[in-house]
Formats: sequence, C-alpha cells, structure tokens
Amino acid sequence: RRLRRILALDDFEIAARRHLPRPIFGYVSGAAETNASLRDNRLVFEEFGFVPRVLVDVSRRTQAVELLGRTYAAPFGIAPMGISALSAYRGDLVLARAAGQANIPMMMSGSSLIRLEEVAEVNPAAWFQAYLPGEPDRILGLLERVERAGFGTLVLTVDTAVLANRENNVRSGFSTPLRPSLRLAWDGMIRSNWTLNTFLRTLLKHGMPHFENSYATRGAPILARSVMRDFGAKDHLNWRHLELIRERWKGRLVVKGIMAKEDACIARDSGVEGIIVSNHGGRQLDGTVSPLRVLPAIADAVGTSIPVMMDGGVRRGSDVLKAIALGAAFVFVGRPFVYAAAIGGEHGVSHAINILSTEISRNMGLLGINSLGELGPERLLRIRGVDV
Ligand code: FNR
Repeated sequence: RRLRRILALDDFEIAARRHLPRPIFGYVSGAAETNASLRDNRLVFEEFGFVPRVLVDVSRRTQAVELLGRTYAAPFGIAPMGISALSAYRGDLVLARAAGQANIPMMMSGSSLIRLEEVAEVNPAAWFQAYLPGEPDRILGLLERVERAGFGTLVLTVDTAVLANRENNVRSGFSTPLRPSLRLAWDGMIRSNWTLNTFLRTLLKHGMPHFENSYATRGAPILARSVMRDFGAKDHLNWRHLELIRERWKGRLVVKGIMAKEDACIARDSGVEGIIVSNHGGRQLDGTVSPLRVLPAIADAVGTSIPVMMDGGVRRGSDVLKAIALGAAFVFVGRPFVYAAAIGGEHGVSHAINILSTEISRNMGLLGINSLGELGPERLLRIRGVDV
C-alpha cells in the first residue's frame, strides 16, 4: 500500500526517514564531515543535458547489458551496503532475492550482519564485496570461505585505508557501540513498525546481530569497539596484496573505489576483470569529486579491455544514461535500495528496480536509441560547471 505512493527512487528516502529510527536513517543517508562529496554526487548529473535524436524507430529498445561474462537485464545493480539488516529485516537477503529475480547484480557487503553463505544460497549470482586487512593469512582465509560459498565475483573495496570521520553518525545518535539511551527508546517507540518488524523480529529469531563476515577471528556483536578497530586495520593494504589476491582468487575480481586514472591503470595491469569508479557515496574522504567527473578520463585511460563501472548519486534513469554516455559500462545504486528494503521488503526493492528500468527504457525511446551501445558523449552537452 505504501509503495503505491512511491513514484521515483527519491520517494523511498522520504518514506524511510519516517520509518527508520533517527540514528539508523542518519547512518544510511549520511556521509563524511560537510557532506560535500555527497552533494556533488547528485549535482554533477545536472551539469549535463541530453541532445535527443527524433523519428528513430525505437520499438526494438533493449537495456540488456553484457558484463563480466553474463547478460544482465538492466545496466544497474545494487551497491554493497554494510549492516543492511539493521534497516530491513534480513536486509541483505531481501536485496539478494530481489536482484536475483530481476536479473541484476547485487554486491553483498563484507560488513554485513548476515552470513555470506546464506546470501549465496538465495542468490548464487551475487557478488561478494570484501574489506581486507593487509595480512596475507587473514586475506586467504576469507577468500577460501567466499569461494567455498560459491561466489564467482569478488569485489575489493580500496577506498577505506583508514576509517572516515564519523562525526555525522555521532550527531544522529549512531554511536559505536550503540548505547541504550532514553532518546533511542523513545525513537523505537514512535517507529514501532521498524521496532517490531525489524529489530525485535531479528532479536527473537536470530539473536543479537553480529558481523558475520568480518575478517576478525570471531564475529563480534554489532558495532563493538573491537570491530571498528578491526575495520580500521587496513592501513597497510597495498598493491602487492592485490597481486596476491589476484593470484589466489580464481573467480572474477573487481576493484571498487578508484578515483585516479593512474590507479585505474595499475588495477587493470594487475589483472582485475573490472573497476568501479566510486567515492563511496561521499562517505570516505569528504571533498572527493564526484565519480562522474573523473569517469571520462578513466574510461579513456583504461580503454576497452575491462569494464569501467561507477556509483554515487544515481537516482534516475536519466542519470544511468548520462553515466553510460560518459563511459560507464555499468552503474550501481546504493541508498535507495536499502530504503526500499526497509519500507517494502522484497516488494519494495523490486518496485525500485522497476522504477529505474522503466525510466531507462522510456528515456532511451525519447533519446532515440535502441541499445545502450549507441550512447556516447555526443548525446550530452555540458550546461553547467567546468570540464576538469
Ligand atoms: C555504503 N558503501 C559501502 N561500500 C562498500 O564497498 N562496502 C560497504 O560495506 C559499504 N557500506 C555502505 C553502507 C551504507 C549505508 C551506504 C549508504 C554506503 C558505499 C556504497 O557501496 C556505494 O559506493 C554508495 O552508496 C553509492 O552511492 P549512492 O548510490 O548511495 O549515492
């Protein structure tokens, strides 16, 4: 019933703001420090306008895309988001199932509260995103487990050398560890739907959520200080570790969080199958430019040997088409899918996928193209901002 009023991806955020306790909504929606990168990720899309062609027979439109040896139904997928099971009941499974149904890729986060084996079971085509420490033993241990679970694609996130400044989490009451407080109790009371159907249901059926896939030896309870320290212990991960991973990981390997074209080329030369241009949704180094600004140069430098994907701020079919026109082989969307899972479960996520792919199909028709391969920079005009 709630979904009927959701007409665009941004509507999910409005509904989720009412549904989720303030600290959790703040954790998902927020970014680092001044939120400059978060804003730029959205604003940059308005700096480009389309130049459509007309009287083209667009009756054969298809948005199917080949990516990493598979044909997907749409040119977008679900970005990895940690602790999604705090926003939606068994959130990662919800996202994985909906993505599998729609035949789009879903990356499960390495900082998920659901065991990776369970996600692989509900969606054998899901990708696994890992945060890895710079310690070979622990790297290899996790790789073996991911492989055993049946994941064919490993995504290594590389933009988290040190923990970002989480002051916005503190402001919204998302402390680590999460401390009971009067405010939190009140929040839970007025958000009774979330409290009953997500929080208490999880607690009763599965117990206190833990980080199930952290490279910490034992899963630690949600947001314990030891986990945060562990996530911070990546500061010596370097390109040599990527070589080691490449050597040991027999499946497809993707690096996420590249912003410099030099790094894109090193990654390509290390033998990865793909890269994702990303500033982590503005959640790492505040002030990092939007991925869309560096995408053309990276696509140019990398060439056609491996796909260059991107994420950050994609909310409309027109955003997807602009990213593709600027060189993206594929895009990923984060926050809206967690909001959709939170307010509508699997139906919600399917609704979000439908909205986005309907927008893409309609806009392809209005743009005068039948396939995404026809899209190039000549269909765009810069109408604001500067070329960098
Ligand atoms: C993230 N992101 C992220 N990335 C990653 O590689 N591993 C992770 O565990 C997480 N966790 C995470 C949690 C939450 C709540 C958010 C919002 C984001 C970053 C994510 O994969 C992606 O890069 C951005 O979210 C994309 O930007 P949009 O679509 O949210 O604007």
